[in-house]
Amino acid sequence: HLEKKWISIALLVVALLVAIITIDAFFHGVNPPSKVETIDSAKLHLSKEFAESNLGVQLDANGDIVVRMVAGRYSFFPKHIAVPAETKITFRWVSMDVLHGVHIPMTNMSTMIVPGYVAEITTSFPKPGEYPVLCNEYCGLGHNHMWSNISVI
Ligand code: CUA
Repeated sequence: HLEKKWISIALLVVALLVAIITIDAFFHGVNPPSKVETIDSAKLHLSKEFAESNLGVQLDANGDIVVRMVAGRYSFFPKHIAVPAETKITFRWVSMDVLHGVHIPMTNMSTMIVPGYVAEITTSFPKPGEYPVLCNEYCGLGHNHMWSNISVI
């Protein structure tokens, strides 16, 4: 019957989508957040002292690289950082105002930055060079100028 044919096609499409999600998860490292972590946006002050003590590239207790960055209209802070290539790096993003997104071409970095939540993504940069950090969620009139950059050395 015609119905059976279309049911098979629909099931094939579902199977294809599940396959794409599976491949992204296991081979490209694209995953939903494994835990939901909140932060009080009112406590995010971009004073010089705050930025120097809390933001940027740091080593955690295990010696892993952790990068803390804040998204705010219309940039990512710190404006510029440097990290090593081919190294596992955990990024922790927060927003100081509205919903932003972050996309770094050539990596698996693509996530929303929802005010009040920490967006944690682990990635690595395939080779040295300059990587742009772009906002990919419309956040206001300056959205298309919202970017920063990362030097990978
Ligand atoms: Cu921030 Cu668009």
